Amino acid sequence: MDEKFITLAIESSCDDTGIAILNGQYDLLNSKLASQIASHSQYGGVVPELASRMHQEAILPLLDEVLKSAGITDPKSQIDLIAVTSGPGLMGSLLVGVMAAKGLAQALEKPIIGVNHLEGHIFANILSNRNLCPPFLSVVVSGGHTEVILVKQLGEYKLIGSTRDDALGEAYDKVSKVLGLGYPGGPIIDKLAVEGSIDSFTFPTPLSNTNKVEFSFSGLKTAVMNAVQKKNKLSEPFNNCDLCASFQKAAINSLICKIQLAMVQTQVTSLTLSGGVAANSALRKELTLLSEKLNWNLFLPPKDMCTDNAAMIAAAGYCAYKRGIRSDLSLSPNPSWEIW
Ligand code: KG4
Ligand code: ZN
Repeated sequence: MDEKFITLAIESSCDDTGIAILNGQYDLLNSKLASQIASHSQYGGVVPELASRMHQEAILPLLDEVLKSAGITDPKSQIDLIAVTSGPGLMGSLLVGVMAAKGLAQALEKPIIGVNHLEGHIFANILSNRNLCPPFLSVVVSGGHTEVILVKQLGEYKLIGSTRDDALGEAYDKVSKVLGLGYPGGPIIDKLAVEGSIDSFTFPTPLSNTNKVEFSFSGLKTAVMNAVQKKNKLSEPFNNCDLCASFQKAAINSLICKIQLAMVQTQVTSLTLSGGVAANSALRKELTLLSEKLNWNLFLPPKDMCTDNAAMIAAAGYCAYKRGIRSDLSLSPNPSWEIW
């Protein structure tokens, strides 16, 4: 049983309002999300102004619901810490969460801690795997991030490699938009790719010839666009499933080949995956097979812990607090905060 120490966490860095209540490091009492996907999908991507307005509408009713479901009837006596994502992310979105958290901290007279969103994604794995401890390699792949991070200790991170241009999730979203499939593209392409043939289109694996841990997905997105235009010009019918499968093969190959390089470079044997793209079924399958072959300890969070949520922010905030890190009521969002 975890010690009694209750963290209330808020996540609002992009287009999901999340609130969670965590006891100690592992015992999640409740976590809920108000998703904005339906509103943004008509524009094919996140509209920042709309996102902040929707966070503002959702946050207090969501807080009420989460407190009720977690059995918190007297927040002042039951809550010990307020954790909030304070960067990186969209400024207007972050501001809503940070202001709500500051108001709560002041009203309840509780400490507040600003949590880095990427550190949160890393902690999605800590929260779901009690056996995971550093050092390990953490791969964060989402709509805004493609980062390979060496976790030396909790709180001590080294960037091993990242993308030169688009994030991997962004590439999924853009390819989906080109094909008119909807937003967010990742889950849609994931499903369609299962029905398609990976060899129908030949897309080169980006940067497969460099000996550096680095990524580039914008050329791959352009290659998909060109393939679609060519087919349309020649009035040749094509199958979206085949296109999705071929795109996904190149994207995943690129990620996996650089993960392999990073594992060799850093000499660690444990690997974690997180961020929205970590929910991808083909990626999970391929990495599991490779880990079995190369004797890596692979940690994959459950799918609902891959995409943005406040439970991971609570876990990261609690751990930072226990390491002695503190914020105060002057806390401000930092949209480009880096943890290394
Ligand atoms: O972590 P997340 O919820 O938000 C960011 O911090 O960006 O990730 C959202 C991203 C989107 O780009 C979405 O298309 C992608 O994750 N995604 C997926 C899948 N589920 C979500 N990409 C590939 N396959 C999936 N199953
Ligand atoms: Zn995220």
